[in-house]
Amino acid sequence: MLSGRRILLIISGGIAAYKSLDLIRRLRERGGAVRCIVTKAGAEFVTPLAVATLSRDKVFGDLFSLTDESEIGHIRLARDADLVVVAPATADLIARMALGLASDLASTVLLATDRPILIAPAMNYVMWAHPATQANVKTLAGRGVRMLGPVQGELAEGETGMGRMSEPLDIVAAIEAFFSGTGRLKGRRALVTSGPTHEPIDPVRYIANRSSGRQGHAIAAALAALGADTMLVTGPTVQLDPAGVEIKRIETAEQMLGACRDALPVDVAVCAAAVADWRVADPRNQKIKKNGKPGDAAPILRLAENPDILASLSAAGKLRPRLVIGFAAETEDVVAHAVAKRKKKGCDWILANDVSVAAGTFGGDDNAVHLIDGKGVDSWPRLTKDEVARRLAARIADYLAAPA
Ligand code: CTP
Repeated sequence: MLSGRRILLIISGGIAAYKSLDLIRRLRERGGAVRCIVTKAGAEFVTPLAVATLSRDKVFGDLFSLTDESEIGHIRLARDADLVVVAPATADLIARMALGLASDLASTVLLATDRPILIAPAMNYVMWAHPATQANVKTLAGRGVRMLGPVQGELAEGETGMGRMSEPLDIVAAIEAFFSGTGRLKGRRALVTSGPTHEPIDPVRYIANRSSGRQGHAIAAALAALGADTMLVTGPTVQLDPAGVEIKRIETAEQMLGACRDALPVDVAVCAAAVADWRVADPRNQKIKKNGKPGDAAPILRLAENPDILASLSAAGKLRPRLVIGFAAETEDVVAHAVAKRKKKGCDWILANDVSVAAGTFGGDDNAVHLIDGKGVDSWPRLTKDEVARRLAARIADYLAAPA
């Protein structure tokens, strides 16, 4: 049920807009309060009168309408909602969201809102597959925008392909799932490690790895979205800071360990960082120079083993988090190696993933993981890293809700 939930529905200009009328009705049937913005193009497909009648509220459309502004104002419109839903989300509106344009009321509200956003894309399948749209969708996902669909099916032009808007009932289910999850981790503290570490060789050079931080950052965002007080300890990445998460930036494994220890006590720790196993034992204070003489021997780096953060959190005695979760990055015999790693590190759960080049996990957008706990192996389908993160956060919430 959606009793008392305030949903701001943005209807942009695609033929799927007619389904949004049904969506409004179904949201209201479940007790949701629906306020709508219809874009200029959207109003070519559904009349503001029909939208107003079904939503039983005033319909907003024009950024420069003085009456709208004096009554409510676009900033309040953007914030007076528990969730902003864009259905249908056209390629054009998605592109404007990705660019941060504020060229009409809908895009301005989407830029001005600090509320969670769910979009249901709908467009021709070629437009959906276009690299520009895919890049925009990726940008939005990186900012924590939730996405439902599009789905495969018959499209308006008589063609068939990936581009149909999800059905209103599926959108309602996603909205209900969103609301049932929020607040489940309220009062809990979570610690997440993410990204690579950089181990200095000298002031300008370092040893690193290919981790992008995408999965760890998504996990921190998903835990925070469920209400957890979340600390993200991250190595250098280009990921955007997830909303509502406290961030501690570090470079080396030793600094990561220190920051994690400082964050204790927490209820759950998720170690998603690709920590360098070794550091240079004696990093130089000055840049190592070539002598310039042909045949000069290349420097030899002596390495020292880095502390294992996951193992050390798992063995933190009284400060041990109730749930310690690690990842196992493997390139062969993924599950077998991960089962052994779980034992060796003393953590509760381990998420095993294939990081061989063929799997495209490092730096990629999706991930196929196996969750291994004391009871067995649960193999998840290939999901986007955001979906893996949400599923994991929901599992964590279930676990922490059960008696210790
Ligand atoms: N990990 C850690 N500190 C380290 C090394 C790894 O916290 N110094 C954590 C990672 O965050 C991950 C898990 O341990 O959750 C396993 O990382 P992985 O690289 O798969 O394993 P390693 O311990 O490095 O073992 P190996 O490289 O031999 O497979």
